[in-house]
Amino acid sequence: MQSSDTHSTLLDERREMFEAALEKHVADAEAGPSGAVMELAKHVLLAGGKRWRPVLVMLAYELAGGENDEDIMPLALAFELIHTATLVHDDINDNAKLRRGAVTLHERFGSVKAIVVGDYLFVEGFALGGRFSQRIVGLIADCCARIAAAELKQLEHVGDLGTTPEDYYAIIEGKTAGPFAAGCRAAAVVAGADEQTAARMGSFGLELGLAFQIVDDLLDLLGDERMGKPRGADVLEGKMTLPLIHALTLSHGDSRRRLGELISEFNDGVWEELIELLERSGSLEYASVLVNNHLTRALDSLLTFPESELRDALEWLTRQVMERNE
Ligand code: IPE
Ligand code: IPE
Ligand code: MG
Ligand code: MG
Ligand code: MG
Repeated sequence: MQSSDTHSTLLDERREMFEAALEKHVADAEAGPSGAVMELAKHVLLAGGKRWRPVLVMLAYELAGGENDEDIMPLALAFELIHTATLVHDDINDNAKLRRGAVTLHERFGSVKAIVVGDYLFVEGFALGGRFSQRIVGLIADCCARIAAAELKQLEHVGDLGTTPEDYYAIIEGKTAGPFAAGCRAAAVVAGADEQTAARMGSFGLELGLAFQIVDDLLDLLGDERMGKPRGADVLEGKMTLPLIHALTLSHGDSRRRLGELISEFNDGVWEELIELLERSGSLEYASVLVNNHLTRALDSLLTFPESELRDALEWLTRQVMERNE
């Protein structure tokens, strides 16, 4: 087993390659007819995202036998631009003040401009993805349609104390895990893999993406400063995340009533009480166990591919999702 330094070097190399391609894309667009829109878009595009999706696309491509980084770059860019489009629109919906450590576009330039920038990023992403086969375009379009459906479903459940784990899973699969799966699967198709192999790569992305969103939701409740937003922002928005759903299911009588009140009328003043109730019902622990289950399944899919330095690095990256959970 290599040291994690080797893995991070391999990952950093891909990340730097991607960063350079993105910067070039931004510069070219700025010099073109839509330059004024890119000038706004770059405030979020180049604000320092973690680049999980493009790095996964690049690595999945290589693991599936792809050999030309330049061939896969438009797909890596497509997934990052589409992801960024969803973030710009998501921040309007969630009334978020900060994104990637920077003031959100809608706070800075107003919602009307932010909507236009989000649309523009979607179109740019599709233009890049459109260079590939119909199969790839279909995968991208399908995952975008599912993001939209999941966002609507999430809205329907705002403040809904009867939200079930099935509802929650449908939402996070649509909005987060689906795009991870589509990116990994499409990358394998571009590498020339058969449908079965591409589906295995898709399963890896799906499980990783589920874990990724559950961790994101957990961090909101752990009050982690890495989130760049106030603790409990999801609760304040009425977002029914897994620990809340679990606690509501397990508690009875007075504590169930109180929990319902704390969620419905959440403010930072009741933070300690809410966390205590969640801890008492083992709900944070429960969500962590599910994260581990999904990561184990992701690793199982990954281990069906031949052993290589690259696979080790992907395995290491997968385990990093769990590290975010500490
Ligand atoms: C944020 O995604 C939205 C979620 C799916 C939780 P990331 O956490 O990957 O955000 P960036 O791209 O690094 O900013
Ligand atoms: C993000 O969900 C999923 C998207 C499709 C944008 P969140 O609303 O949880 O993302 P954050 O927490 O704002 O990054
Ligand atoms: Mg949201
Ligand atoms: Mg949000
Ligand atoms: Mg979140």
